[in-house]
Amino acid sequence: KNFEDWLKAAPKSELHLHLDGTLEARRLLSLAEKTHVPLSYQTLEEVEVAYQFENLQSFLDLYYLGASVLRDEEDFYHLMMDYLQRCRENNIVHTEIMIEPQTYLPNGIEFPVFMAGFKRAIADARSQWGQSALLILSFLRHMPEADALHVLDLAEAYRDDFVAIGLASGERDNPPQKFTELYRRAGERGYRLTAHAGEEGPPAYIRAALDDLQVERIDHGVRCVEDEPLVEELRERQIPLTVCPLSNVRLHVFSEMKQHNILQLLQRGLKVTVNSDDPAYFGGYLNDNFIALYRELNLNREQALQLLQNGFEASFLPAEAKQNYL
Ligand code: HPA
Ligand code: ZN
Repeated sequence: KNFEDWLKAAPKSELHLHLDGTLEARRLLSLAEKTHVPLSYQTLEEVEVAYQFENLQSFLDLYYLGASVLRDEEDFYHLMMDYLQRCRENNIVHTEIMIEPQTYLPNGIEFPVFMAGFKRAIADARSQWGQSALLILSFLRHMPEADALHVLDLAEAYRDDFVAIGLASGERDNPPQKFTELYRRAGERGYRLTAHAGEEGPPAYIRAALDDLQVERIDHGVRCVEDEPLVEELRERQIPLTVCPLSNVRLHVFSEMKQHNILQLLQRGLKVTVNSDDPAYFGGYLNDNFIALYRELNLNREQALQLLQNGFEASFLPAEAKQNYL
């Protein structure tokens, strides 16, 4: 109990968080009514049943449908502000938030609308309690690369608001190689580079993200253990893995938390961090993830301190700003 309180109170960094994944069912249902988006679930009880996902794709179907209820600047302001409040409650002093414009653009919602809401919320949280937040421009890998290139150009007007680009959505059959030109151009324009790899996809996708996309961080990456030389390279280069324990269990990457390999990865010297991914869908924010590791995997203080420190070291903050947290 004492240790759980200590975990909750520890200052944290969160590096793998999809903002659309923080849309709580209660707000989702009320916005769906307002915007007339038809859902097959109308009550919180029905949501709970609908959120028993079988795999990544069955989650993504509801996740994109859920995000389609967001329409005006106020919706985006509240979405961001609600999450930043959760940061405060979870003692997440620094966060890096994935924004996915390809979810909004097909509904006719353009950059000026969602960016105004997001930026206003971040400015408010920064001035009210000193919240640190960076944005990651995340692309959807089930869409063609040409669409991503178009969105990268649209984002030029907001170049200073994004520290990095990322790559999310259905991993199977959408290998990193599909986005080589996107990552080349983004790199040229000074974005830091990260991508989801090795969640449902094979270790070869982690290798391709490193070799073809030149990423400096891997989102998930837990399937690296199937390729021993790859594990050695990740360790040698200290490539951060942004691991999401509750997400992995809910999407059946691991059958139960006791099977999760995060502490083995840590033990082998990989730069592993703990993150919540889509907390409104996967049953918990960052503190819940840490507590699950303690309850199910006997996370100890030494391991927790290493994970917390990795969270700051692996951040995209400039070196001077990082020092304040280490
Ligand atoms: N994997 C891929 N795409 C996603 C995820 C994830 O865990 N969450 C939101 N989009
Ligand atoms: Zn993710």
